[in-house]
Amino acid sequence: MKVLVIGSGGREHALVWKIAQSPLVEKIYCAPGNPGIGCIAENVPIQVDDLPALLAFAKREGIGLTVVGPELPLSLGIVDLFEEYGLKIFGARRNAALIEASKAFSKDLMKKYDVPTAFYEVFTEVEPAVAFIRKHGAPIVVKADGLAAGKGVIVARSEDEAVSAVKEMLSGNSFGDAGSRVVIEEFLRGEEASFLAFTDGKNIIPLASAQDHKAVFDGDSGPNTGGMGAYSPAPVVTPAIHEKAMVEVMRRTVDGMAAEGRPYRGVLYAGLMIDGDSVKTLEFNARFGDPECQPLLMRMKSDIVPILLAVADGDISRIAIEWHDMASVCVVMAAAGYPGDYPKGDEISGLEAADRIDDLFVFHAGTGYSDGHFVTNGGRVLGVTGRGVTVADAIRKAYEGVAAIRWNGVHFRTDIGRKALL
Ligand code: AMP
Ligand code: GLY
Repeated sequence: MKVLVIGSGGREHALVWKIAQSPLVEKIYCAPGNPGIGCIAENVPIQVDDLPALLAFAKREGIGLTVVGPELPLSLGIVDLFEEYGLKIFGARRNAALIEASKAFSKDLMKKYDVPTAFYEVFTEVEPAVAFIRKHGAPIVVKADGLAAGKGVIVARSEDEAVSAVKEMLSGNSFGDAGSRVVIEEFLRGEEASFLAFTDGKNIIPLASAQDHKAVFDGDSGPNTGGMGAYSPAPVVTPAIHEKAMVEVMRRTVDGMAAEGRPYRGVLYAGLMIDGDSVKTLEFNARFGDPECQPLLMRMKSDIVPILLAVADGDISRIAIEWHDMASVCVVMAAAGYPGDYPKGDEISGLEAADRIDDLFVFHAGTGYSDGHFVTNGGRVLGVTGRGVTVADAIRKAYEGVAAIRWNGVHFRTDIGRKALL
């Protein structure tokens, strides 16, 4: 079978790497891909939001399965379009992807179906929003309604910071249309975990647990990014927390979406805040997490292709997923300045040395290829992912890879996975 993966980040490199191990697959394409992906798949120069060109390509090449990485094409309706033409595709339909594309929608859904989440209200006008902030005080959290590449959330330490975030968003200056509505919600304490599950709209199969590191600097300081590293399993997801997340978050959400006439098919990602035995949902994503996908797929023992096909066919009742009884840790190597402005085109050295390390894989996220060298071409550049018997072993392995690689102005956190050791 020929497979098309859509996207160009570390998540898509991990998907291509895992799909390539399936005996069912004869050829993989990736649109648009990146130079690392190009070593295992054929990159196709079509952007993720160019739906007509992606459809034409899939029809022309006889693609048997398309796998969507990022949220943008999902929210543009790529799954609906491919299905209309009888093409098999893994991902949430447009009306289900709204669970990520609109925070107001997802909060209202959680409220309606009793999915535990932070207390909140939705605003389109500055004045009532400011009154809400003054009434509840800081810390408080301000979120742009629409898609903002993981950067539309301000955890405000003071009322004034929250007020200026609201003004920025509602004026349309910082996030365009995505900020024309805001969600303001209660600040939650605790430890975060990424809880992902495959669902066909009825059955739910959880993936292994994972934890992301959103802040740019060690000790969770500095601004939030798309994710600076991740590990799996996450000990904070105890068997009791897992059970609670399945019953109170996943089951209620999947049933709620079905009841709303928006059956959810694909991978559903709940960002959880865990505090003692309390589990609350911070957000939903309609896709695999990035970088969580890298350590998760490093640990997946089963062939992923039958799973993706079963989800696309709408029946996962006969699927079981096996996991390697090992831990995996992904350390993101980023360009200096990320998540703000950063330089591009710096030559990356040491990739061959890292390649020779066992139980390590370097997933490319924002790389380019120029004059015979890999160069930086994005904020998050590489996801150096190691595997080991314990989390401590996996951390050592990942940082052994990181130590082999360098470029001018490289930045990475030195404490990825440490929380799992406490
Ligand atoms: P979100 O995109 O909604 O998951 O928010 C991004 C990040 O902001 C989360 O991963 C948390 O670190 C933080 N965050 C979001 N909502 C809250 C909240 N209600 N309380 C505390 N932190 C939050
Ligand atoms: N790593 C967080 C996300 O993918 O949204």
